[in-house]
Amino acid sequence: MKNIEIITKIRELSGISDLPKDEQALVKNAMEAAKRSYSPYSGFRVGASLLLENGQVINGSNQENAAYPSGLCAERVAIFYANAQYPGVKIKSMAIVAMGETGLTSEPVYPCGSCRQVMIESESRLNNKIRLILTGKKKIHLVEGARQLLPMGFDFNSLEA
Ligand code: THU
Repeated sequence: MKNIEIITKIRELSGISDLPKDEQALVKNAMEAAKRSYSPYSGFRVGASLLLENGQVINGSNQENAAYPSGLCAERVAIFYANAQYPGVKIKSMAIVAMGETGLTSEPVYPCGSCRQVMIESESRLNNKIRLILTGKKKIHLVEGARQLLPMGFDFNSLEA
C-alpha cells in the first residue's frame, strides 16, 4: 500500500498593485469583460482575459441562455475563441474576476470543473502552463498552471492508457 499526497500551491497577494503592470492590465481587462456578460438568469457576471504567447489579449464573459445548460462560462468563451482565432498559440496567463450585485466579489472566484478540464486540454496539447490570476476585492490568488487545480486530470494521454 502506498499513500499519495497531492499539494496545490497558491500564492496570495493583498491587492492588484502587487501584480506586475501587464498582469494588472489583464485583470482590468477581465473586469471590463465581466461588464459585457450576458447573465440575466444568475445575475453573476464573470470576466476572463487571456494573454497569448503572441501578445494578443482575448476577453470572454459568461453567456447565459433561457435553456440554462446552453450557456457557457467566461473562461471557456475566451479559450475557445482563442483556439478558433489563433490555433496552436499558447495561453500564457488568464485573469478571472466575478461580479455580483455589489460589484467585484470579495474573495477570488475559482473556475468551475468543466473550465478546469478545458484549461488542462490547452496545457497538455501545447505543453505549457497557464498562469491563473484570480482577483477578489480582498485578495488575489496566483496559480501556476490549471493542473494545480485539477490534479489527476483526464486528458488524451488517458485515452491511450
Ligand atoms: N460561471 C463562469 O462564467 N465561470 C465559472 O467558472 C463559474 C460560473 C458562470 C456560469 C453562469 O453564467 C454563472 O457564472 C453562474 O453560475
